Amino acid sequence: MLGNFTFANPTKLYFGDDSLQYLNDELPKYGKTVQLIYGGGSIKKNGIYDAVVAILKANGKTIVEDSGVMPNPTTEKLKEGIEIARKHNVDLLLAVGGGSCCDYAKAVSVSVHCNEDPWEKYFIRFEEPSCKILPVGCVLTMVGTGSEMNGGSVITNHEKHLKIGHVFGEEVMPKFAILNPKFTFTLPHKQMVAGIYDIFNHICEQYFSGTDDNTSDYLAEGLMRSVVHSSLIAVENPQDYEARSNIMWCATWALNTLIAKGKTTDWMVHMLGQAVGAYTDATHGMTLAAVSLPYYRHIMPYGLAKFKRFAVNVWGVSAEGKTDEQIANEGLAKLEAWMKKIGLTLKISELGATPEMIEGIADATLILKGGYKVLERPEIVQILRESL
Ligand code: NZQ
Ligand code: ZN
Repeated sequence: MLGNFTFANPTKLYFGDDSLQYLNDELPKYGKTVQLIYGGGSIKKNGIYDAVVAILKANGKTIVEDSGVMPNPTTEKLKEGIEIARKHNVDLLLAVGGGSCCDYAKAVSVSVHCNEDPWEKYFIRFEEPSCKILPVGCVLTMVGTGSEMNGGSVITNHEKHLKIGHVFGEEVMPKFAILNPKFTFTLPHKQMVAGIYDIFNHICEQYFSGTDDNTSDYLAEGLMRSVVHSSLIAVENPQDYEARSNIMWCATWALNTLIAKGKTTDWMVHMLGQAVGAYTDATHGMTLAAVSLPYYRHIMPYGLAKFKRFAVNVWGVSAEGKTDEQIANEGLAKLEAWMKKIGLTLKISELGATPEMIEGIADATLILKGGYKVLERPEIVQILRESL
């Protein structure tokens, strides 16, 4: 049975290969000073920076540069962004990049007018903002996180060895997001496939939970099939607009809160992956890929009916003459074969994790209770060891 819920998503999306021009429609809604947030420079190489700056100038905006947002943005960088916004009395935070830039922009947006330490307030105590929130807009260049249409913000604290996400409410979600699939054409293969697995796993996290008949699970299966189909085309031909545009759209729908409505969710692969990330600073999607198979094999007996359904409905496994367990295992074998085929990293040791880190990573793993099995600490250690 569908549980009770409220659904609202205020982010306005502009999708397509002409979508950047709609920045002209959005900019007049905000004040004069724009904090232009971007990463390590990919947008300068592929021309997106010049195109965005031209539109900002044409709209009479004062541009305040905030570059160098690293993958897995840190507490130190967050402090820097807050200072920039305060100093220049910024009116709009415009993130041009991937999830890291969008997440960072959201964290800045809830901190500029707040006197408390944002790490403690939002990422340790999980409080809601009690101050004015700056508006955020996104021009997306990397696909995977869904950050362009959700309230998620993940920040890494290297000193404390923690990587924690806060899912803010609708007032923190981007006011608008510009999604041009062609902007993703310059992504290196590794980032493209890490993003693809991030999408797939977001769907899994919301699918592998509950035993009821729930429309969200049917939506999830359709999205998973589309991601797998398009990924195989994109890996062969990264310039295939049809595949890249479908991947981009799946990413947004995988984590814009829709498919979690009315159901419980798991999110333990993300908790494990984030803890690995806190120790290794590895690419988010790869950390998920490297812990997924040991985790899913571990919880499969507790959610057998859903794993069987996953095998049949997502991977086309024939159920004839097989036990439920055989069917479910075949589904996970198909998942593994697909992950290998597109070139994902399946071992945390290849991401920099060492046997000595396992206890610390286990300590950094938040245990959530929505999945088929609430993990005990020894199970986390076991899964991490199997992922090495
Ligand atoms: O920094 P630049 O030079 O721009 O390079 C970036 C970066 O190195 C590069 N890149 C981006 N667009 C490109 C490009 N290179 C060439 N051409 C382009 N068009 O890609 C690299 C990765 O970018 P990043 O933004 O870090 O990747 P992603 O979008 O995967 O974001 C990862 C962050 O989002 C968090 C992750 O934990 C991680 O911190 N997440 C956010 C979520 C949310 N808001 O709901 C949920 C996710 O589960 C995730 O946790
Ligand atoms: Zn993710």
